[in-house]
Amino acid sequence: MEISSGRAPVIIGTGSAWPQRAVTNQDLQEIVDTSDEWITRRTGIRQRYIARADRNEETSDLSAAASLAALEMAGKSPDDLDMVIVGTVTGDRPFPACACLVQKKIKASRAAAFDISAGCSGFVYSLSMAENLIKAGQCDTILVVGVDRISVMLDWKDRANCVLFGDGAGAVVVTAGEGPNRILSTHIRSDGECWDMLYGEYGTPYVHPGLEPMTPKPFHVVMEGNKVFKKAVSSMTALSQKALEHNGLTGKDITMLFPHQANMRIISALAERVDIGMDRVYTNIDRFGNTSSGSIPIALDEAHRLGKLRKGDLILMVTFGAGITWGASVISWAI
Ligand code: UT7
Repeated sequence: MEISSGRAPVIIGTGSAWPQRAVTNQDLQEIVDTSDEWITRRTGIRQRYIARADRNEETSDLSAAASLAALEMAGKSPDDLDMVIVGTVTGDRPFPACACLVQKKIKASRAAAFDISAGCSGFVYSLSMAENLIKAGQCDTILVVGVDRISVMLDWKDRANCVLFGDGAGAVVVTAGEGPNRILSTHIRSDGECWDMLYGEYGTPYVHPGLEPMTPKPFHVVMEGNKVFKKAVSSMTALSQKALEHNGLTGKDITMLFPHQANMRIISALAERVDIGMDRVYTNIDRFGNTSSGSIPIALDEAHRLGKLRKGDLILMVTFGAGITWGASVISWAI
């Protein structure tokens, strides 16, 4: 295993938060032409959490709750943070960055704050940024949040998409440490040629009525599910293998795989190809659905708090999302 010298980027705290309201497959049967049987068999999802703004469940609220939990575990105060990076495509507003609202809500007054847009890969992209800012000596302590409230972008008449997603946030605190238990490497990739396999479409914009015709349309998600499925399996497999090789590891060395929770069938195809038995794959897609950028950090926090991770365990995180983007991170667990 490669252990590089110098400042080690180390995850020292995790946290997560999700809305109160659970929406089951049975609930969805009431509003769209679908069935619990179809959703469970094709995706592995049984329920998801859907936010309500009137319950303070905006993207920044969920992010702040996850962040405070991660800071508490890390034994750090918001004032210790040099940077707040939020991976999201569903910030509270088009601007400012959701990270700035999180900064305000947790009172991280010293930090620089910005968002990263990489679809469901937002968390792994943000982690890659944090890892390298710490290695470069530019920051000592960084909050990384993966969050999405995709429910605001869903067309609830479109059964192909509305049954897949849920809302939620996960956060980690990364600091400059030393020793072998660290983020070993993070690898990120994109293929803009495939952008139209999966994208969010704006709702009706404000245009001058005399300049352009107004065609009312809502926000909605567009996805070519089958194409995304195949690209997700092949891309995540290839990058996982590269990330493992980079660290002199094979799938057999991995204690726990944290895949993006989009579809149980994608997860098992990936696990088989990278030689990681399903007993070493962490999944919570049945309860959360696809929380986009929230998916991996929510799973990581849940696994850690359930005592399923030990210091020195080797973790592989692999993600895939709109862009198309994908990423993989190998971590020697430190807490
Ligand atoms: O997080 C970002 C990355 N996203 C992903 O990785 C998602 C990747 N794609 C997938 O997970 C799967 O392609 C889906 C779950 C989206 C769809 O599963 P599928 O097995 O690929 O189904 P399909 O799209 O081929 O549709 C099969 C049938 C169609 O009916 P016909 O044409 O065979 O009569 C659909 O109309 O299932 C129908 N269908 C549904 N039926 C009941 C599609 N959605 C539903 C639904 N309930 N919700």
